[in-house]
Amino acid sequence: MTDFVKVALRHEIPPGTGRTVEVEGVGIAIFNVDGAFYAMDNTCPHAGGPLGEGKLCGTEVDCPWHGWKFDVTSGERVGNPNFHVTCCEVRIQGEEVQIVIPPALKEPA
Ligand code: FES
Repeated sequence: MTDFVKVALRHEIPPGTGRTVEVEGVGIAIFNVDGAFYAMDNTCPHAGGPLGEGKLCGTEVDCPWHGWKFDVTSGERVGNPNFHVTCCEVRIQGEEVQIVIPPALKEPA
């Protein structure tokens, strides 16, 4: 069975914004694109910038450190899909935003 965990309430992340949460020791960036929620690894693959603190424009977030853009729906770097951020499965249960932490983001046991 897939384990979903609550990471936020829907009203805490208004449309057009994002935030960073820590779940099971993993930093996750959550975004609200016109009412649809997306979640991905918070760590930019360039130099570790916090993607959840980046500016969201449509489905693209700018890394706040050096400006690389990522598509929050796919995790791909805009214009260069060789760089990719791991995305998380998201579901809405009532007011709760819930995600699954992919095994690739979990610390080795
Ligand atoms: S750390 Fe994200 S663009 Fe450099």
